Amino acid sequence: MRKYFIAGNWKMNKNAAESVALAEELVRTMGQQYDVDAVICPPFTSLQGVARVIENSTIKVGAQNMHHEQSGAYTGEVSPEMLRHLYVSYVILGHSERRTLFGETDAFINAKVKAALHNRLRPILCVGETLEEREADRMFEVVETQLAGGLDGVEADQTDLLVIAYEPVWAIGTGKTATPDQAEEMHRRIRDWLKKRFSDSVAERIRIVYGGSMKPSNAADLLKNPNIDGGLIGGASLEGRSFADLVKAAAGKSK
Ligand code: 13P
Repeated sequence: MRKYFIAGNWKMNKNAAESVALAEELVRTMGQQYDVDAVICPPFTSLQGVARVIENSTIKVGAQNMHHEQSGAYTGEVSPEMLRHLYVSYVILGHSERRTLFGETDAFINAKVKAALHNRLRPILCVGETLEEREADRMFEVVETQLAGGLDGVEADQTDLLVIAYEPVWAIGTGKTATPDQAEEMHRRIRDWLKKRFSDSVAERIRIVYGGSMKPSNAADLLKNPNIDGGLIGGASLEGRSFADLVKAAAGKSK
């Protein structure tokens, strides 16, 4: 049984007041949602305000990044301990925007994954190929390399906290969605890799979610596939109505 997982990655959008307003709207419209794990990931500056708003709801809060050290001379960075203190449950790690715009490597992302697990934060590890890599038929190799690097040294008994997000770079913010068949093919491949890396039962428990121009109009077709366990949503999570519709699309479908 895997519970569907729907997370909104707000990226660098919404100031503290706007974030609180959107979180309030979601609490109001979505009510208590037990069939789906619904998570919102606002910018750091909004975490505290949003955490207060969602406190008595089933919505959880996530961060979009973090540093792997607990404290120290790392100007501009935020530690796992600081996130835990704000009741943050999840953290997005290895997003393609971090990899390409900020030069994050698999080794750096791996240090963060391990630090998140060590601090009982739930990592949402993002993997995905560029258009060039897909056109060269290298997508499986690229994603498997990112998985191997990102999960290096992670033990099977830590994986209950882990979520994997497959986000093809060419589908992010472009309006171009992977077809349900393309997404399912990659998700199956990722699950097979997890089986080899850990075990069948561990791989069957880990949620593998899709990200890349997912919206209410294409969610049902993606979510009906056996290995697509939810979504990591950018643009469509910035509006209360569409995020609530995505959560609704996933509700009651847990497998
Ligand atoms: P979009 O839904 O805007 O394509 O963004 C996806 C994404 O990057 C989520 O992390």
